[in-house]
Amino acid sequence: MGKFQVMDHPLIQHKLSMIRDKNCGTKEFREIVNEIATLMAFEVSRDMPLEDIDIQTPEGIAHAKQISGKKVAIVPILRAGIGMVDGILDLIPAAKVGHIGMYRDEKTLEPHEYFVKLPSDIEQRQIFVVDPMLATGGSSIMAIDALKKRGASNIKFVCLVAAPEGVKALQKAHPDVDIYTAALDEKLNDKGYIVPGLGDAGDRLFGTK
Ligand code: URA
Repeated sequence: MGKFQVMDHPLIQHKLSMIRDKNCGTKEFREIVNEIATLMAFEVSRDMPLEDIDIQTPEGIAHAKQISGKKVAIVPILRAGIGMVDGILDLIPAAKVGHIGMYRDEKTLEPHEYFVKLPSDIEQRQIFVVDPMLATGGSSIMAIDALKKRGASNIKFVCLVAAPEGVKALQKAHPDVDIYTAALDEKLNDKGYIVPGLGDAGDRLFGTK
């Protein structure tokens, strides 16, 4: 089974509390989502492999380290996942960005794939799939299905708020995928929203309703 990690760093917890507040406006919400994504990227990238490198400094040779191995692809699930991309790029600016579009049928809550555009070497990349809310798990499972279908294998899922139902479903469907979240909330309501959650992350990021 992949890793499941709730990121309890005080800065992440504090910022998450700010965006849970229903009075947090669009601009602030968007900025803070990116800040949290940056902080999460620090931990999510912790196991990136390093290799030895000798560097000529002004005073001698430093036996130092540099990141080696797989390059990174950030894959937001449209549309709310887009809100986390810039924050991760702040730390990993050379990452490529793929997009996966899913929509959820309002009646059945079933997710459907409508757009997939990925870096051509996706199967060689370490992939961070991002979506602020892991609710039923339907869209994340389908997005990861879409990635695996195209040869991807090294996948981590990064969200801000997870529901126990979504974590369970994602772990069952993709036991190889590590899950990182800033909070594990109580439950889903009958509309598939996370309680207490933070509402509709896409609407809050983009100011739609
Ligand atoms: N998607 C959201 O944006 N919020 C939820 O609570 C659940 C799914």
